[in-house]
Amino acid sequence: MCGIIGYVGAKEVVPIIVDGLKKLEYRGYDSAGIAVFEEGKINRRRVKGKIAELEKSLNEEPLKGHYGVGHTRWATHGRPSEENAHPHQDCTGSLVVVHNGIIENYLQLKKRLQQEGHTFQTETDTEVIAHLIEGYYENSLEQAVQQALQELEGDFAIAAVSVKDPEKIVAAKMGPPAVVGIGENEYFVCSDLNPLITHTKEIVFLEDGEMVVVEPDGARFRDFSGNEVTKTPEHITWNPLMIEKGGFKHFMLKEIFEQPQVVRDTLQGRISLDTGKVFLDEVGMPANRMDAIKKVVIVACGTSYHAGLLGKYFLENMAGIPVDVEYASEYRYSDFILDKEVLVVVISQSGETADSLAALRSIKERGALSLAICNVMNSSIAREANGVLYTHAGPEIGVAATKTFSAQMAALALLAIYLGQMRGNLDPKESLTFIQELQRIPHKMEIILDRAKSIEELALRFVPFSHFLYLGRWVSFPVALEGALKLKEISYIHAEGYPGGEMKHGPIALIDDLMPTMVVVPKDRVYDKILSNISEVKTRIGYVIAVAFDEDEDIKDKVEDVIPVPQVHPLFTPFLTTLPLQLFAYYIAAHRGADVDQPRNLAKSVTVE
Ligand code: M6R
Repeated sequence: MCGIIGYVGAKEVVPIIVDGLKKLEYRGYDSAGIAVFEEGKINRRRVKGKIAELEKSLNEEPLKGHYGVGHTRWATHGRPSEENAHPHQDCTGSLVVVHNGIIENYLQLKKRLQQEGHTFQTETDTEVIAHLIEGYYENSLEQAVQQALQELEGDFAIAAVSVKDPEKIVAAKMGPPAVVGIGENEYFVCSDLNPLITHTKEIVFLEDGEMVVVEPDGARFRDFSGNEVTKTPEHITWNPLMIEKGGFKHFMLKEIFEQPQVVRDTLQGRISLDTGKVFLDEVGMPANRMDAIKKVVIVACGTSYHAGLLGKYFLENMAGIPVDVEYASEYRYSDFILDKEVLVVVISQSGETADSLAALRSIKERGALSLAICNVMNSSIAREANGVLYTHAGPEIGVAATKTFSAQMAALALLAIYLGQMRGNLDPKESLTFIQELQRIPHKMEIILDRAKSIEELALRFVPFSHFLYLGRWVSFPVALEGALKLKEISYIHAEGYPGGEMKHGPIALIDDLMPTMVVVPKDRVYDKILSNISEVKTRIGYVIAVAFDEDEDIKDKVEDVIPVPQVHPLFTPFLTTLPLQLFAYYIAAHRGADVDQPRNLAKSVTVE
């Protein structure tokens, strides 16, 4: 949730850290801080609010130095305030710590440290780390951090710096991600890749239980017991342009417009338009076990969960395999029953969502085969699952997931066709039909994006509304859920997604002229059924907007407004019907003046429970 960055090298550290924090800001943005080291002194600056506030303060009163750490916070323990902002320091102010995660035993540690004479200045769990390191300090920061780590329970990625052991940063990971960027006589530690790709493409991913000491001339890796660990840098292919807005007002809008390319990239190299074959050898799953699977369980959170719901329709239809879809936060605490013939698919854009990661770990303990669908290379879920099918969406900066949802749908469609072929559920002709349909989707998405202006005009009329209902059936039900999630998370308008057929069991009581209904109504096997649901709404003086096929003339007489989308295979309509809902939510939020890319209370990757 929080973002941490540290730099040691010859360059001026403040611009590097501030730029890095801006790129990490999507991880949390209620307060921010920096500590830089100059002439044997720590200079710390912290502010409540966004990085822009920190930058303003640093412009007014600049700090200088060649190494230091920075932090952007998503509050867990202690309200958002300047005093609770990181970096936190020890009693003497000679060492500072930044932290992402939760120290579960902080109250016991704090009590003991207070009894030993340490004075605390904040309400945070993090401050205990600084005092622990202070207490253990004998001859080096590395030795003190290593001893402190033995006492910490919970999840953490930390970076610590001390004036007593200058020109070095000691970082450690147990849970949340931590990466080390390797430059020319300069090193970075960071929560994720985004801030680093402008500086270096050579990255080392820390594993749980590992720590690193970075200095201008090298990086040394150890485990928490002090044993040396050999790490090989990985070359990252993401480029810096991917994390710029590229002329769009918000990252979210840019990412919505990237969806045709994201689907192309996710399909590329994995399909044959001659034979209709899908190639997924890269995922590294044992073929004999894939052959034997009798059931699939999909586990995910948020938008990834909605993609998982669509995965169920894809897999049951194309692979002929039964599928359950579960919220990771619920599944991890349930008495789930798995065996070796179950394939568990964990979907996570970030690959770091705490609930999804915990569910994956319990699943592995029970012997099931696991496949991750992730966007972030080498993320924890990607590394810990038996195999990984990467979505090629590039970095997603907007907190609201958009392009990664489309990429996840594409990956799930590939998986379904692949398993369908493997299990003999699809013959080559059927596979080819699906693949050709998938191949045509990016162009159809472009047609919808070309109509963005008319969706904006429609959205403008709904800016003042406070409630929305989203309805869909069959594959359009997850689309309704996703449309409602987009609207509520970025515009703060209350929106409910519902299966059309369930509406009469309760939500219909809400319908009036102040609660418009968005209905996803492509011509598919439930078209007539959802038309009946539209009638039910209209009879109660409800206002209906329909997302329907271009060719659907009949719908125009049945609803107030229509957002048309090109025709596509019924199973794949979500690839197209989702886009207008993303745009609709975006334009409403943007016209309400909402902070679209960083909605209140949210963080991009939820690495705490
Ligand atoms: O990184 P993940 O896909 O595991 O994240 C899951 C959810 O936290 C995420 O989809 C969240 O719901 C987004 N805010 C949706 O826009």
